[in-house]
Amino acid sequence: MSPRSLVLGLGLALLAGCGEQRPSFEPEKVNAAPLGKGLPRGFLLGASTASHQVEGGNENDWARWERASFPDGTPHIHDRSVSGPATDSWNRFDEDVKLMKRLGSNAYRFSVEWSRLEPTPGAWDSEAAARYRQWAQALRAQGIEPLVTLYHFTLPTWVAESGGWENPATLDAFERFAGRVADLLGGEVDWWCTINEPNVLAVFGYMDGVWPPGKKDTKAMATVLAHLIEAHARAARQLRTHDLVDADGDGKATLVGLAHHVRVFQPASGSTTDIAVAGLTDEFFNESVPNALRTGRISLSVPGSVSLRREVPGLKGSLDYFGLNYYSRDHVRQDASPSFSHKYVPAGYDTNDLGWELYPEGLYLLLKRYAAFGLPLVVTENGMDDRSGERRPYYLRSHLYAVEQAVAAGADVRGYFHWSLIDNFEWAEGYAPRFGLFRVDRSSPELVRQDTPAVETFREAARNLGLTPTP
Ligand code: BGC
Repeated sequence: MSPRSLVLGLGLALLAGCGEQRPSFEPEKVNAAPLGKGLPRGFLLGASTASHQVEGGNENDWARWERASFPDGTPHIHDRSVSGPATDSWNRFDEDVKLMKRLGSNAYRFSVEWSRLEPTPGAWDSEAAARYRQWAQALRAQGIEPLVTLYHFTLPTWVAESGGWENPATLDAFERFAGRVADLLGGEVDWWCTINEPNVLAVFGYMDGVWPPGKKDTKAMATVLAHLIEAHARAARQLRTHDLVDADGDGKATLVGLAHHVRVFQPASGSTTDIAVAGLTDEFFNESVPNALRTGRISLSVPGSVSLRREVPGLKGSLDYFGLNYYSRDHVRQDASPSFSHKYVPAGYDTNDLGWELYPEGLYLLLKRYAAFGLPLVVTENGMDDRSGERRPYYLRSHLYAVEQAVAAGADVRGYFHWSLIDNFEWAEGYAPRFGLFRVDRSSPELVRQDTPAVETFREAARNLGLTPTP
């Protein structure tokens, strides 16, 4: 335990306790606040999706993983589903745009699927390329700002088979891909997200082994995390040199960001060890990526196994905005596992249907923390698995309230993207969870989209922001 972690842990504990004046998150306060009135002019209000989770028919490393099992026979996907047709958004994009209009949203975050655009090394599928271009054009024609993610967890099989993110050659391939996507979509797209959640991919794919490639190898985890950070820097350079068109006329041709998954790590008790372990967890999971982006230097350490330090050319200054994906808080107790910690939600706390704690104040705290970055912030994801749909309205309201409180406290937040537009393929959880503002009836051949009650909440926020939802 380094003295730094101890100090950080103590700092967090202080933050979680007394000290500064914090806004009240009592439901009466949240419900009484005029939703969306505190958001700044030009704020991007929209929803988020990712290619593999909605398009359908993708063949990539995930599709393969879905069809296989762990050595003991347990299927990789909890509900035994495969992504298959997903929500068929590849063919139903126009329907999805109508949903966005119904929300009154002025922005949409989606990702392009590398395996579709470059199905074999160096090849380029011009039909797929044309389709993505039509999407970006359709969004712009409807007054919806596209925010395009280049990599959201799925690799073409040819990349995965040659070692995926462990292989430095993947960085060259990804850099070329980024340049080509910028050439393809730069005329319509200004907002870019290079990589989605490097920390989640590294931990789930290479430490916990629950996502492809299913490894449990801390050194590989660190290598991959470092490569993803480097891949971001290289993609940012490509986006800036290839996309010179200011598509929305605001004076900026490219706004490059990365979507970072952040969580609140709450020490389970006042004991020095719990506080220190929560601090260590926070430092590794929340801070490794932003620290590298801030300084241009990767510094990763896991006591006893990893100590990796290196400068990355072009990393410092590679961001125009910082994207935060926020869902939940973990309570952390020290234990003897490889991560030294047990993360859990104590009984009696409010959770979503996956058991993740609902803690809107965490979004406020983390926006305030990352405001110190000195860059505009965008909430690139935030949402809940709510299978009844009844609890999402308050979730949305309380998290938008958190954004507004952070803005009132001085944070420069430029956008909020709800996860998700529609129910979609939830990775290892399959189709059981429901994160969509619109429910997808999976039993209907047309995969009919239906409003959940949170659509009305979103529309209220949109109207208060001066947007006009369609009836
Ligand atoms: C991911 C999404 C995912 C969501 C909810 C985020 O970590 O970026 O792809 O669907 O969490 O599980």
